[in-house]
Amino acid sequence: MTTPSRLSLVFILLSVLVHADANGNGGFSVHLIHRDFSPNSPYFNSLETHHDRVQTAIRRSISRTNGAFKRSSSSVASSPTNANQNGNITTTLNAIGGDYLMNISIGTPPRQLLVSTDTGSSIAWVQCKPCQDCYEQNEPVFDPRESSSYKSIHCLTPVCFELSESMSCENKLCKYDIGYGDKSSSIGHLAFETLTFDSTSGRPVKIPQFAIGCGHSNEGFKDAYSNGMVGLGTGTGKLSLISQLGAKIDSKFSYCLVDADIGSSNKFNFGSHAEITGKDVVSTPFITVEEGLYYLTLKAVSVNDNRIPFKSKYESDGQEGNIAIDSGTTLTLLPEEMYSDIESEVKKATNSDGFISSETGLLCFKADKNTKFPNITFHFTGADVKLTDENSFLSTPDGLCLNCRSAGDRHVLYGNLAQMDFLVEYDLKAKKISFKPTDCSKHK
Ligand SMILES: *[C@@H]1O[C@H](CO)[C@@H](O)[C@H](O)[C@H]1NC(C)=O
Ligand SMILES: *[C@@H]1O[C@H](CO)[C@@H](O)[C@H](O)[C@H]1NC(C)=O
Ligand SMILES: *[C@@H]1O[C@H](CO)[C@@H](O)[C@H](O)[C@H]1NC(C)=O
Repeated sequence: MTTPSRLSLVFILLSVLVHADANGNGGFSVHLIHRDFSPNSPYFNSLETHHDRVQTAIRRSISRTNGAFKRSSSSVASSPTNANQNGNITTTLNAIGGDYLMNISIGTPPRQLLVSTDTGSSIAWVQCKPCQDCYEQNEPVFDPRESSSYKSIHCLTPVCFELSESMSCENKLCKYDIGYGDKSSSIGHLAFETLTFDSTSGRPVKIPQFAIGCGHSNEGFKDAYSNGMVGLGTGTGKLSLISQLGAKIDSKFSYCLVDADIGSSNKFNFGSHAEITGKDVVSTPFITVEEGLYYLTLKAVSVNDNRIPFKSKYESDGQEGNIAIDSGTTLTLLPEEMYSDIESEVKKATNSDGFISSETGLLCFKADKNTKFPNITFHFTGADVKLTDENSFLSTPDGLCLNCRSAGDRHVLYGNLAQMDFLVEYDLKAKKISFKPTDCSKHK
């Protein structure tokens, strides 16, 4: 049966498709800006040492998952995002702490805005006039009256009720409401706008009719350089950037994160630019649980030749999808039982007890030239991902520290340090994630 709602979805998909043709192959890349490490980031402090920046990133990584992102009961599947009883969506990842920023332009004429990216949520919103409660922002707040392409969405428009449960009706306009784990929230109206990316090739890529939140009331944010949030998460989150670009990018994206020492030229690739090939590519299936992050299945971790099987006191961890892959969080968090085995193997391999950093809680070593660090491999279903020393051990003021902690009662998570210098491709149709060792500073 063809309902009017289906029809307008088809229309949206068609307009995206038509546009993909106009752009040739539909593949493009944009820069991701690391908050601390990238000299292009407004938060980059040239007076700080690299170690200071690393410390800042670790601290933020800990607050990103602190308090929020806690598991309440073992019977609940490892979903970090849930629609609450009111039907509006609350992510349990904190809004604070996503490591990467992105430049987007919205409106006509295009207004360039720096926004935070969030892997745990699935809507794009920017602070928007008229402000009821906007946080302090360095640049002028986006004003829809200055854009000729801004179109309010009526609440009977299918996108309002079909694309997400978190929508409601207010004076006939489609209202969205998103809450984050740290109790910050954005409330406003959903609108169609033209979204433009400055692609790395220099050619702007325009996405007409992009559904974006015009946030009038944004509470709990303290990010004066960030004009809003772009959700990169998925699942049923059809409002996410990835879902909305779906047809245009053949449901594929990838990223290549440079080593923390280098800091800039992180890439986020869409469509044909995202595809990775070669003999050294390994792939593993992912699952999505409601909205938010992507989940992989971790079978074991090897420290040199010693294989430590996945184990956890949480029953739900035994199932498929026991670890979230998150480009937004610095550290990797593993179940306590498994982590302590890894810790003892690492101590054995380095022939040293190391010490626990009082600052970060990480296992650290005062390394000298003779210290032999073990090879650590993550064994996901069908994919053995062999980490480099830089992926496994982080250079901090305390020494070299294992980039991994016990998750405690938080969710188990594969963080971004472990992913640096890998090209990581997400193929949403094939439902798999692939890894290829790559020098990301050279990746085009
Ligand atoms: C992001 O956009 C601003 C202008 O709003 C520009 O000054 C800055 O260089 C851009 N950053 C990157 C990394 O492209
Ligand atoms: C969710 O919806 C209810 C009812 O509409 C509202 O009171 C509440 O503030 C909303 N937001 C969050 C984050 O729960
Ligand atoms: C780690 O792997 C490298 C390359 O695969 C190998 O040369 C090295 O001996 C390994 N280290 C240990 C401690 O096994």
